[in-house]
Amino acid sequence: MPTTLAPLSTSQLRNAIARLPRYALGHFPTPLEHLPRLSKALGGPEIYIKRDDCTGLAFGGNKTRHNEFLIADALAQGADIIVWGAGVQSNNCRQTAASCAKAGLDIHLVLGRGGPAKGPDLIQGNLLLDHLVGAHVDIVEETIGVDLDDRIALEAEKHKTNGRKVYSWDRHKVKPLAAVSYALCVAEIVEQSAAAGFEADAIYVSSAGSTGSGVVLGQKMLGLACPVLSVAPIKWPWDTQADMAEIADAAGTLCGLTPGITRDDVAVTFDYIGPAYGKCSPGGLEAIALLARTEGILLDPIYSGKAMAAVIDDIRQGRRTAGEKVVFIHTGGTPALFAYNNELAQGIAPRRLER
Ligand SMILES: Cc1ncc(COP(=O)(O)O)c(C=O)c1O
Repeated sequence: MPTTLAPLSTSQLRNAIARLPRYALGHFPTPLEHLPRLSKALGGPEIYIKRDDCTGLAFGGNKTRHNEFLIADALAQGADIIVWGAGVQSNNCRQTAASCAKAGLDIHLVLGRGGPAKGPDLIQGNLLLDHLVGAHVDIVEETIGVDLDDRIALEAEKHKTNGRKVYSWDRHKVKPLAAVSYALCVAEIVEQSAAAGFEADAIYVSSAGSTGSGVVLGQKMLGLACPVLSVAPIKWPWDTQADMAEIADAAGTLCGLTPGITRDDVAVTFDYIGPAYGKCSPGGLEAIALLARTEGILLDPIYSGKAMAAVIDDIRQGRRTAGEKVVFIHTGGTPALFAYNNELAQGIAPRRLER
């Protein structure tokens, strides 16, 4: 019988998670790296980065972890096609399409533009990669959220009518299963930081869903004392904290654990979304330039850049201080850089050297 009461050791947590089917897609564990030049530039805590942008599948990112569990579930159900969707520049869809290519599944992506076309859709960034890995792509007018979910369900029904065995986006089922993968990421962080001789004082991650929920599950089950802050890229029309707590708790239950996670266990900030979901923010652009120019590591403008803006702000406001160790989980998203080329070129000043 697995031990179900926290705190678990990392191997007990891994054993509990091992009861779920998993399909190998990525390079794990991802590296945990120290960022000495960024830490010095900010003059606060020592900052470490968990390189989930290096998960290895089609430019990497958090969904490669998620998909190890989702693809395994799809295959266990005998699916031959996945019907999936999100925004036009969705990192999720790009990684899911690449996962399907690797697993030999067809994929139909229903990408929500959030309104009528203003011109031809730019085949760039994630959308370009969707095409390259062989996804069937439809761009529709629906906005991501409930409207797009309904449209995806409609397309899934059409495939079912045609006799296909469909695995489709169903947030209630998919989200807890995806979250399990981020409890494993926390186990990696605990093991890697112990090997490097430190314990994290805070963990930051870009999420308003499964990723942050999984980190909270890992935090709770491994008995970590440090806070976890989910930096939301989007304000959903529902209570995000309650939703994430529900996902985290359900994820634990899937592994035979009883985490007892409630809304109060989840910390989310909406302060770094900027003008809107999917739009660049000044803080995010500054974070992209600062990390790129101090460490040569790229962030994306919609998720990881805005999450790093929260780290920078917390240091500048004295909420994180010298002597502490902060772990930033880099969730990926870098292909979007190429789709936001104009905003990035306008928002980040070119560096000029004195001559
Ligand atoms: C790069 C990146 N980071 C973070 C997230 C947030 O993931 P979630 O809110 O599903 O946990 C996403 C979602 O698509 C993403 O693409």
